[in-house]
Amino acid sequence: MSAGCAVGLTLTQGATFSVPTMEATSTLHGRVVLITGGGTGIGRTTARQFAAAGAEVLVVGRTAERLRETADGHPGIRTFAADLTAPDAPDAIVAAALDAFGRVDVLVNNAAIIRPALLEEIDRTTADEQLATNLVGPIFLTQRVLPHLKEGGAIVNVTSNTPNRGWPHNSVYGATKVALDFLTHTWAVELAPRGIRVVSVAPGVTETPVLAHAGFSEEQVAERGKEFRERIPLKRIARPEEIAWWIVNVARPEAGYLNGTVVRVDGGLAASG
Ligand SMILES: NC(=O)c1ccc[n+]([C@@H]2O[C@H](COP(=O)([O-])OP(=O)(O)OC[C@H]3O[C@@H](n4cnc5c(N)ncnc54)[C@H](OP(=O)(O)O)[C@@H]3O)[C@@H](O)[C@H]2O)c1
Repeated sequence: MSAGCAVGLTLTQGATFSVPTMEATSTLHGRVVLITGGGTGIGRTTARQFAAAGAEVLVVGRTAERLRETADGHPGIRTFAADLTAPDAPDAIVAAALDAFGRVDVLVNNAAIIRPALLEEIDRTTADEQLATNLVGPIFLTQRVLPHLKEGGAIVNVTSNTPNRGWPHNSVYGATKVALDFLTHTWAVELAPRGIRVVSVAPGVTETPVLAHAGFSEEQVAERGKEFRERIPLKRIARPEEIAWWIVNVARPEAGYLNGTVVRVDGGLAASG
């Protein structure tokens, strides 16, 4: 579809609602987006969708090869290999973004790890690792990006579909994600006077390598997928594109009144109890 086109949908006789295409609403053109965990899964797809909308993107992750694959064939995407948990990483990541593009308009705190364990099995190393990656890393990266965000800037925290009840095996992971949602609420209030918005996008179960990265076997992943498909009202697992779309669109200026909230994209799972 050519730039500037819109798709016309007929709603009722004689009424037409125009859905602008990504190309038509190029309000992200020239915006600089920094995405952590951009080498795989939701982060990779988000980086490509932002780039397709005309943004300039820096993807960050620990594995240079994964980042290169994300950027391959997408000239708007640059890469920077870093471990978000290293104390000097936030400054280095911001310096890399400024070096590449001279500014930052949008930060997507997406990198996270999941290490399932019952309470009696939790060891300090994996607990620390999850807290450092999912919570402390985003705090200090956001802090270091902040002086460079201008009015109209946006911070998107990718959280999770944490249930409003216990979540056996996932206490530490779930706690980091609930805490990140709390940071969203709080930072949104703190930063609103500067015209900077903060929003959480909370994915439901999504087809990515996240469980493989957590050490699950293919059979275990398939079994979990089957269980989830039965429980999710839409009876299917999300494609990463269906989560990335929300991350990209909450960062657009058109979403300028969306602030301090959690956008749940879970196929109705939370609503089903
Ligand atoms: N998939 C789901 O069902 C689901 C559901 C709810 C929420 N989420 C959330 O969605 C986000 C994306 O997850 P995903 O499903 O796309 O999983 P994923 O493919 O495992 O992506 C996580 C990314 O984070 C990077 N990363 C991990 N530790 C890092 C560190 N210390 N420093 C820098 N980068 C690091 C990983 O790359 P390297 O290992 O190369 O560093 C990886 O590319 C996460 O916040 C996750 O909690 C996912």
